[in-house]
Amino acid sequence: MQTIQIKDKLFNQYITEAQIQTRIQEIVSELSEKYKDKNPVFVVVLRGAFMFASDILKKFNYPCEIEFVKLSSYTGMQSTGKINMLLPLKEEIVKNRDVIIIEDIVDSGLTMDFFVSYVKGLEPKSVSLISFLYKPENLQKDVKIDIVGFTIPDLFVVGYGLDFDGEGRNLSAVYQLAV
Ligand code: IMP
Repeated sequence: MQTIQIKDKLFNQYITEAQIQTRIQEIVSELSEKYKDKNPVFVVVLRGAFMFASDILKKFNYPCEIEFVKLSSYTGMQSTGKINMLLPLKEEIVKNRDVIIIEDIVDSGLTMDFFVSYVKGLEPKSVSLISFLYKPENLQKDVKIDIVGFTIPDLFVVGYGLDFDGEGRNLSAVYQLAV
């Protein structure tokens, strides 16, 4: 088992790069079938989803647009459930379009519960949500995820876009906190 250290914590490899890339191919096949004639708008949620989105979008060989949003961080929202958009969505791009939100992880679900409702309010033709990871044990809101990369137990994970205290986003595999 491959173990890495980030700051003072040890992490064990949990999902390999090969497993991720195999899953990416399956996701792209599903998206291609569904959206090849639709010119969808992919909305990438920064920062965590950048690597997942990049791998998907490089292989999605059909017309599409790509937008980015940045939502306020996890720690700041835990008490209130209120989420701020630090980089807002260009609202005019979404109206009457097929929108695909790309997120890194759905944990409590508070972030995506807010954001999916917000996008729906902008009158898109359709909205779907893709999340690289999903931790169902922590879910507090009934968030519908159309495509999940991997369902995982309630573990802190890092890599492939996800960070621990600002580091680890550049890792090409996923690592879990060693307990
Ligand atoms: P939610 O609103 O609780 O679903 O939180 C989602 C956000 O929390 C994600 O976009 C991540 O930024 C962060 N997050 C949740 N779990 C983890 C984890 O295991 N590692 C790194 N970030 C996480």
